[in-house]
Amino acid sequence: MKLSRRDAVRAFLGWAAGSGYGLAQDYSDPLYGPINVFDFAALAKKKLDPYAWDYLDGGSEDEQSLRDNREIFKQIIIRPRMLVDTSKIDLSLTLFGQKLDHPILLDPAGGKNCFFMGGEAAVAKAAHNANTLHITNGGIDDVLESGNGAKVWWQLTTGGQLANTQSMRSFVKRVEAQGASGICFSVDIMHVSHRERDMHNKLERSWCETGFPKRDAQGRLPEAKHPWRAGLYPSRPSPTPAWNAVREMRQMTKLPIVIKGILTAEDAARCVEVGVNGIIISNHGARQLDHVGSTMEALPEVVKAAGNRIPIMIDGGFRRGTDILKALALGATAVAIARPYLYGLTAFGQRGVERVIELLRTELALDMALAGVPNLAAIDRSLVRFRGETKW
Ligand SMILES: Cc1cc2nc3c(=O)[nH]c(=O)nc-3n(C[C@H](O)[C@H](O)[C@H](O)COP(=O)(O)O)c2cc1C
Repeated sequence: MKLSRRDAVRAFLGWAAGSGYGLAQDYSDPLYGPINVFDFAALAKKKLDPYAWDYLDGGSEDEQSLRDNREIFKQIIIRPRMLVDTSKIDLSLTLFGQKLDHPILLDPAGGKNCFFMGGEAAVAKAAHNANTLHITNGGIDDVLESGNGAKVWWQLTTGGQLANTQSMRSFVKRVEAQGASGICFSVDIMHVSHRERDMHNKLERSWCETGFPKRDAQGRLPEAKHPWRAGLYPSRPSPTPAWNAVREMRQMTKLPIVIKGILTAEDAARCVEVGVNGIIISNHGARQLDHVGSTMEALPEVVKAAGNRIPIMIDGGFRRGTDILKALALGATAVAIARPYLYGLTAFGQRGVERVIELLRTELALDMALAGVPNLAAIDRSLVRFRGETKW
């Protein structure tokens, strides 16, 4: 094959970018200082008010599940295969008829203004550029109208809009009219848990909508009007949605419905039965019911109960390409992240979100190459074992 001069220059630049010589990017840009998710977390922590950081990073009660979400990855060992052609790595997949470049999705996260004003829109734009699926909490109408909203996005509901048939219908109609490619229903937040860091800090929840206030000269924040209080049961005035609400919504729309917050085989079977199109295994980033274990521990039973009938996604504690690879090996179709992209958002806004996705995606591709799996279809259960396990 004969290369034109321009092709040759382009090929050289591509090689140089990939080889770490950095000709294609300006590495003096501070964006390229952090090289992994943990570096972004350190930057975010430095930048944020300590109370905003606690809101971002904390979990509920003992924070046991928060530790579990990370600890579990140490218990899973990759069984790499050698002498496989890994010159090309393909991370692409098709999810609900949509072609995605890679299996890393962006979870919903409320209160982004605590970390970066206009954060929801910044994340939608980043998702657009990174061609990543974004589950939004809403309020990105302007970005969608501009054409720069996430190309693939799902609208989140935490149940409020599903309280009765009328409100459910208007929610579904609006979401369809906006062009969402799916609906994600978070089922684990019918009551807000005790997030004790926030309680100790007397965090005012509304700050995470209006922007975190600056401290005064004495280092004080304005007094919270509605701090989180221990000892008060957070009752809700109307019944919380149950499975019949999902059944009803299922009949109202052709959009895929994904349930987020499933942790058991029983509920996974229920999801299939009511016609849900996908599940996100989640413990809400360990921010809701504590002591539910890590999400990776729930993965095998949920995968088994769903029995290849619907895709299973998972979130909670994914910080490395190897973490993602382990979940894919245990049967997940894709993985979702929240805190990692929120660290990027805090540190650099939209560009930080894009960079975190890029780093994780590159780590995953490299880990797949080193493990001898050139594409997602080549990943199966035999790629991992639990410590102590002798059969897999
Ligand atoms: C600051 C913050 C806000 C969140 N808000 C929501 C929310 O509004 N709805 C929801 O379903 N999940 C919410 N989550 C949970 C995430 O969607 C996700 O399940 C979890 O954080 C994934 O774990 P990771 O942060 O370790 O990646 C939030 C998480 C964080 C960190």
